Amino acid sequence: MAQKSSPAPLPPGPSKPALLDQKFWRHFAKNIWEKKPLLLKNVKSGLLEMGDAEIFDLLVLYSDRCRKLNNPEGFKFYIHGFKAEEEDVLQVLPVKKDKSLLGYHARMKALFSDYCLVCDELLKVNLKKQDLLTEFTDELYRHVGFPNRFSEMGLYLGNYRKTPFGVHVDSCGVFSFPVVGLKRFRLWTPDFVKKNPGLDRAFKYDKYKKNSQLLEVGPGDMTYWPSSAWHIAESDGSFSATWSLGVWVDQPHKEMFAQPLNDLLGSKLGSAGATVTTPFKSLHGATGEVTELPEAYLKSIDSLKNLTALELQETFLKSWMKHISLQGFKTIPRVDFKLSAKSRIQLRSDRSLILWQQALTSKDKFFFSFGGVLVESSKSSGLLKLVKALNAGEFCSVNSFLKGESLKRDLGSLQALADAGAFA
Ligand SMILES: [Fe+2]
Repeated sequence: MAQKSSPAPLPPGPSKPALLDQKFWRHFAKNIWEKKPLLLKNVKSGLLEMGDAEIFDLLVLYSDRCRKLNNPEGFKFYIHGFKAEEEDVLQVLPVKKDKSLLGYHARMKALFSDYCLVCDELLKVNLKKQDLLTEFTDELYRHVGFPNRFSEMGLYLGNYRKTPFGVHVDSCGVFSFPVVGLKRFRLWTPDFVKKNPGLDRAFKYDKYKKNSQLLEVGPGDMTYWPSSAWHIAESDGSFSATWSLGVWVDQPHKEMFAQPLNDLLGSKLGSAGATVTTPFKSLHGATGEVTELPEAYLKSIDSLKNLTALELQETFLKSWMKHISLQGFKTIPRVDFKLSAKSRIQLRSDRSLILWQQALTSKDKFFFSFGGVLVESSKSSGLLKLVKALNAGEFCSVNSFLKGESLKRDLGSLQALADAGAFA
């Protein structure tokens, strides 16, 4: 009798997509963020839908711009772990003739057996792609808080076998999204590296491998590790391209609070704040006891005492608005946009509103902010109406809002917002 053969096991199907929904983010904020690494397979996110062809086009666009400006800013290039000089970087950037990421790789591979190209500014050249990133970071910030420093998104590509600077730790939590090729990230806990300082900047770490955690990911997957994790990327020398989002966590609240306060005090103290020697009556008594504060300090204490709650609140509100107008990034793309009263304008993105507030200390003063730029304007109801209309998604003629004697001044304010990249 023929034996009944058992059914062949089904090949593993694609795993269910991991949704970055509210439930995920709540879990992430509570259990993962700054606590432990995470590996998610098959992640459903707009950010991961960007294919290698699109990324290649962005790279060529950005490279063309660098070549035109004769400035490779935003790119770094490493050969066998050594950083190339700026003038050399311009020679190794992708060109249209490469046709694809793999085409670029073929050209580079013939020149370098170990290279790594890093582009930190890539998404800045395409607003729609930048919006995919802000969709991700907005959700992240909503759950873990807005970064006091900023986030940076970099593309890393090449055939480098190890991260050019060895095992290291950064002051940022890192999300990685491979685009081409397989990626291996090896992690160690801070406690382990403290006990084994030989790991710091190491390229050879075989004896410590058993104490590491290995995250292996491919296109469509996502990893995260907290800022305390020591790490290195490994590869077998084949080509890979990976997005890496670093969320810097090295700026404590006290620094955020001290800076605007410092500026406010500076303006209150005026010229007295600029003196570089301090007159005194006596430094100390015969026993060495110090009891007397110089006049300059007493006067400054009076300025401090005279600060009103409204002044303080306005100071911090202004600095907070300026900070969040960067949307959690170091910079946001600037554009050449020459305005006139006849211009018709709209916001460059409905995700990037012009922020504004009414001064607390003066009813007819307003502050506007975009891309880290703060504009102060008095008696400008036309400008405020225009900003509200723009923020509501309208396409606006400047001269139907700004007119009369404040036109020139308001146009100046609007131009500052345009220079910061507010309009299309
Ligand atoms: Fe790193």
